Amino acid sequence: IAKELDLKSEIRELCRKKNAVIMAHYYTEGIIQDLADFVGDSLALAQKAAKTEADIIVMCGVHFMGETNKILCPGKKVLVPDLNATCSLAESCPADEFSRFVSAHPGHTVISYVNTTAATKAVTDVVVTSSNARQIVESFPSDEKIIFGPDRNLGNYINSVTGRNMLLWDGACHVHEKFSVEKILELKESHPEAKVLAHPECKGAVLKLADVVGSTAALLKYAIRHEGKEFIVATESGILHEMQKACPEKTFIPAPPDDSTCACNECNYMRLITLEKLYNTLKYEWPEIVVDAEVAEKAVKPIHRMLEISE
Ligand code: 13P
Ligand code: SF4
Repeated sequence: IAKELDLKSEIRELCRKKNAVIMAHYYTEGIIQDLADFVGDSLALAQKAAKTEADIIVMCGVHFMGETNKILCPGKKVLVPDLNATCSLAESCPADEFSRFVSAHPGHTVISYVNTTAATKAVTDVVVTSSNARQIVESFPSDEKIIFGPDRNLGNYINSVTGRNMLLWDGACHVHEKFSVEKILELKESHPEAKVLAHPECKGAVLKLADVVGSTAALLKYAIRHEGKEFIVATESGILHEMQKACPEKTFIPAPPDDSTCACNECNYMRLITLEKLYNTLKYEWPEIVVDAEVAEKAVKPIHRMLEISE
């Protein structure tokens, strides 16, 4: 514990000396979230990065989040404590294959989820997050031909709530795909008053059981505002830290995955970000996110377009 306290105070001191800011996603370990200057969902993290005056941004999250920050702030040093923190959803959509898919369907507007690599964003017209996907899709005329990638669950969900028929890329997140409908139903039976909160990356059958579907920030807001006392949470379990902190009197039950022998409701990529790595990253200013200049020049446009629409 003493070592942990030392590391925490040294991290804060390094931030002060180097004019660095720590940003963290809700799926990182609680200890990282508590230490961060800013914790948020993907949209809020991008909006915050675009406005920061710090010289160094340490993005405690996954690689695409660091890339988005670097693309928005090319003059700043952007660090991610472990470059192996990728994202199964972003990896399910390699830029070259996505680019061939786009070329095979001319006349479509290309909308990509922020969980993509910079190279995939470079062949995109507008980026969305789970916070603004519906709003951005609805900003196009109803007969607009749209390609949506890479998450088929989010795409199907947006199609269902908007009545659109977007052409979907067949990608998914390895965490959100695995929540068990049967086990959520069992939990609903044993906790009849509990509200079900679900992230739109979950399968459609899980979303049908949900009282609210939304981004991490939207689910947190619902949990805080709703008068209910019990919530079943179908998203990565890191969010429970902030929920429990904000509402100590409420009970949050993580939705179980199909396979009860693994901690499948944890994102193994997000969990690569540890206190020790964060300390080393700040101390040595490494590892740094680098985005190819040509890719960045193309990828910045759909990200700016998203930020303008979501203002
Ligand atoms: P949010 O934008 O809702 O925070 O989601 C990010 C993510 O990676 C979901 O798996
Ligand atoms: Fe990617 Fe899934 Fe992890 Fe989110 S939870 S960062 S979508 S792998």
